[in-house]
Amino acid sequence: MRVSPLPIGDILRDLGAELHPDSLLAESTSLGIGGYTDRIVIRRCDGLPEIIRLLDDSGIPHRFLGGGTNLLVADGELPWVVLQLPSIRGGVEIADNIATVDAAADLGGMVTFCARHNLGGMEGLIGVPGSVGGALRMNAGAYGTQIGAYVREVRLFRRSTGALETLRGCDIRFDYRHTSFGLDDVFLSVKLELPLRPYREIVKAIGICNQKRRASQPLNQKSAGCIFKNPPGSSTGRILDELGLKGFRVGDAMVSDRHANFFVNTGHASCADMLALIETVRDRVFAAHGLELEREVIFWEN
Ligand code: EPU
Repeated sequence: MRVSPLPIGDILRDLGAELHPDSLLAESTSLGIGGYTDRIVIRRCDGLPEIIRLLDDSGIPHRFLGGGTNLLVADGELPWVVLQLPSIRGGVEIADNIATVDAAADLGGMVTFCARHNLGGMEGLIGVPGSVGGALRMNAGAYGTQIGAYVREVRLFRRSTGALETLRGCDIRFDYRHTSFGLDDVFLSVKLELPLRPYREIVKAIGICNQKRRASQPLNQKSAGCIFKNPPGSSTGRILDELGLKGFRVGDAMVSDRHANFFVNTGHASCADMLALIETVRDRVFAAHGLELEREVIFWEN
């Protein structure tokens, strides 16, 4: 969607935002898939409510893009603009055992920064790609750790009230890859309460997780992590593997031959290829086991 011809560029600039016309979202997603639209980078969080109001009043649909690592975006010209908070190096402040982290901070960078201050608990999250905000939205987890377990407070823009708010951790529900946040809520920062652990112990645990991940996941290929959620008590990766689906492909979209719940873009896969692969695999699992797999990756259609 092109808002660049509309006379809102100057207003956006006054509100601390920059307009980037015709951005290709394939360049902002870990799958390397996605069409093009105008992108608005918001430099000042306090301008956010007004920017959203401006877009709403102008009838411009919009979506918030985080790290783009758990996201499948449609092909071609997209009928909404994308809003983005700039990615931040560091973005973590520590006081006692509380880490206050910018939502746009890199998740892995945050885990290692906290480790240097003897704050652990999140070792399992090392290697999960994406931003802290993205991890929060999905309650990202790996190797027995879920980020929701440590959340004490979240600062966010709530779509339902149009205001900046602070939520207490105990008022938020964190389930398996699901949270009680509104779909359109925008995270600004989070306070995490973390257990004190000696740095060397944390580093050792991080090393073990990294090793497991390298041995079992296609880390050097374009993917969005696991495509489907695990059914209760079972593993989608194992189910797809046992059905012989590793290496199965539609165009350049392929079921990884390393971990069957990772679908990789081996070259120039389109969103249509990836969707066709997802649907075919889902049908195969339903035909074999009567099981309806639920997608974990978020899909932005056009
Ligand atoms: N397995 C196979 N073949 C495969 C993949 C897995 O047989 O192709 C077997 C493994 O050998 C293992 C079992 O299935 O016995 C479980 O596999 P794994 O330990 O890799 O864990 P997973 O359940 O497939 C989950 C998360 C991952 C997370 C890992 C490690 C989901 C959907 N996936 O995978 O998270 O990294 O545990 O904790 O919850 C993600 O959410 O995007 C993600 C990658």
